[in-house]
Amino acid sequence: MQVVRTISELRALRGAAAPLVGLVPTMGALHDGHLSLVRRAREECETVIGSLFVNPTQFGPNEDFSRYPRDEERDLGLFERDGTDIVFAPSVDEMYGGTPATTVTLGGIAERLEGAKRPGHFDGVATVVTKLFNIVQPDRAYFGQKDAQQLRVIRTFVRDLDIPVEVVGCPTVREPDGLALSSRNVYLDDDHRAQALSLSRGLDRATAALEDGVRDAETLRRLVLDEIEAQPLAEIDYVSLADSGSLEEFEGDVTGEVVLSMAVRFGATRLIDNVTLTS
Ligand code: PAF
Repeated sequence: MQVVRTISELRALRGAAAPLVGLVPTMGALHDGHLSLVRRAREECETVIGSLFVNPTQFGPNEDFSRYPRDEERDLGLFERDGTDIVFAPSVDEMYGGTPATTVTLGGIAERLEGAKRPGHFDGVATVVTKLFNIVQPDRAYFGQKDAQQLRVIRTFVRDLDIPVEVVGCPTVREPDGLALSSRNVYLDDDHRAQALSLSRGLDRATAALEDGVRDAETLRRLVLDEIEAQPLAEIDYVSLADSGSLEEFEGDVTGEVVLSMAVRFGATRLIDNVTLTS
């Protein structure tokens, strides 16, 4: 595995790489969710490129950029173990030096849910992912469905800007007790972690109710809210039941493919989770 830190080194290796090239963009603190993307890319592509970059432009001023978990040596070991050929691990200066004047800005789908709660977040994601696509020029790029809205936002700007990459969404990986894997889980103390299980329990309850024929959006949201509101340490940012394509909130009966999602704080740690369902 080769580790490169500059755009020019990456481009030189990319030029000589065997097609098909798969990119797995990450901010490090790798867990089995990220590694499932690496393994999927390994199965499907001849060259697997991982990126390791904690992107400052997608964090708000009061968010956890400075304390975001970083352990490059461990991450490189895991990338290598699961078959990555090249890791691109640039500095902030390499990515954003030279006083950039251009960003990718999205409306519509990017303004709801996470976008409403974290202003500017998706512009930061879209800008860095567009740069990674331009630098690496992958044939395929792999993202987790755990970040349901991010995946939709990326598909949207790839379509709108005619970026020639196939975006592959991969299933959320969970702990045996249901907690969705996240780099931020390391912040949870025992009490927070125990109460955080209410997210997946809520999703399971609503999924079962929908399977039993419950269609009313408010009833389904209420099943999730009841689980989470019963946890004294939980502060809910939102619980949403929205159309899978537009992410517009359902009122009345749900139809077609829907996304049930939430963001909940436990102390300083903000967790997200979701499930996609067909009614
Ligand atoms: O999902 C993430 O880890 C990040 O948002 C991404 C896609 C690597 C962009 O920084």
